[in-house]
Order: sequence, then structure tokens, then C-alpha cells
Amino acid sequence: PLTSQDAADRGAVQVIAHRGSSAARAEHTLAAYALAVAEGADGLEADVRLTADGQLVCVHDRTVRRTSDGRGAVSALTLAQLNAFDFGSWKDPAAPEPSPVLTLAQLLELVADAGRRVELAIETKHPTRYAGRTEAELLRLLSRYGLLPDSREGSAVRVMSFSELSLRRIRRAAPAVPTVYLFDRRLPLLGRIETLPGGAPIAGPGIDLVRSNPELVRALRRAGHSVHVWTVDEAADVELCLELGVSAIITNRPRAVLAQLGR
Ligand code: G3P
Ligand code: CA
Repeated sequence: PLTSQDAADRGAVQVIAHRGSSAARAEHTLAAYALAVAEGADGLEADVRLTADGQLVCVHDRTVRRTSDGRGAVSALTLAQLNAFDFGSWKDPAAPEPSPVLTLAQLLELVADAGRRVELAIETKHPTRYAGRTEAELLRLLSRYGLLPDSREGSAVRVMSFSELSLRRIRRAAPAVPTVYLFDRRLPLLGRIETLPGGAPIAGPGIDLVRSNPELVRALRRAGHSVHVWTVDEAADVELCLELGVSAIITNRPRAVLAQLGR
């Protein structure tokens, strides 16, 4: 049976909607994020990429092929060209309206209008190509929406990346923004576990790695890091994350995870 301490710990874990409520709606669409907010998710995860005309849009893959009815690399298309594609029908062919590409600015608007605190976990994708333009534009938008924190504690936004370089750029330009180093294989530590690549305070291991090496999570926590795990959709994996004391669970099914936590 759950002790009251267990119950308190379960309540403290953040549930972050991965690409929105993306099991139920097309990923990275306004509908997916609006549903996650309505379902009570604590935060929203989004991948961001630069368009040919320097806008940040929420798209996971290098190209739009998998998630839209268009073709081409995001980096080779302008926002106007991307806006002509439908990012919803691949998942929901019966949707009454097309879903245009979601800009990061639109996602920040949604969060601003949520009527409650909704956190943001923004992932920079392939940022090394753009010589810092991805990070500069991201920080410009966060500033415009009043989301740049004074200190890491209490920040409603964090920046995640598999790229150490990207995390370093964020850390240099905005040291108060918490960063999450994402990894799915072994942790490429050059020194001690206290110092994660990119100087990130938060560790972001994939669930496969957590399953095969739970001791790593314990070691990361002992070294003082918060641990945010992705992408956790199975009940047994949620239980494992709770047992290991992770701080955030990133999931495609926020409603189911919240229910499992008794929320
Ligand atoms: O939340 C981190 C996770 O999204 C990283 O993997 O491929 O889903 O972006 P990916
Ligand atoms: Ca991601």
C-alpha cells in the first residue's frame, strides 16, 4: 500500500506532454497541445527547427514527409510554404479542418492563454547547422513572452537537447534557463557524473536506458541532478520512474499517466 510519503512523491512528479497529447492527436499541432492542457498536463514538450526564413516551428523530423501532406526539409522551406501543408490529416483523416504548421510563437501564445501554469520543455533539433541562430531565436521568443527566468529555480521553461553545443550556447546566453542533456545510450561523461555534457543541471535519459540501467538514475540523483525521462507510455515504466524518484515523466499519454498518479 502507498504510504502518505509515497503519495506526496507521486504528486510531485511532473507530467509533460510529449509533442502534445500526441497519442490522441497529430503531434506538434495546436489540437495536440490544447488537449494536453485540457487534460491537466503540467507541461508541454516541443521540438523546434528553423525554417528557411528564420522562424522556429514545432516539427520533429528533418523533413515534413511523415507528419504532413507536403514534402521537403523544414530548413529549405519558408514559413509561408510550410503553412500550405496540413499537419493533421496523416493522423486524423476525418479532421474537419487542416492543421497548419505550429510556430513556437503560437505555442507560447497557447501557454500564455492557458489560465494556469503550464511549463515548457523545448528541444532544439539539429542546432549545430545554424551557428547559434536556433538558440538566439528561441531566447528572443522566450524573452518576448516574459519566459526568461531570473533564476533556475521556479523557471517555467527549460531547454533540452542531445547537442552539447546547443546547451552550452543557451547556458552562455541565458544562464538562468535550466537545460536538460538528452541521451539514449551510455552517458558520454568525460569527467565526473556531477558535470553533465553542456553543463546541464538536468539529465534526460530515454526510458530504454532507464529500464536497462536503473542504477544510472540513482547515481545521477546522488550526484545532485534532477532526472527527466522520455518517452514513458507504459504503466510499468511509470512505476519504475516513480520508484527511481525522477522529477518529470515525458509521455505521449498525459491523461493516462496523470490517472496512474491519482491526479
Ligand atoms: O523529450 C525528449 C525526447 O523527445 C527526445 O526524443 O526523438 O522524441 O525528440 P525525440
Ligand atoms: Ca523531442
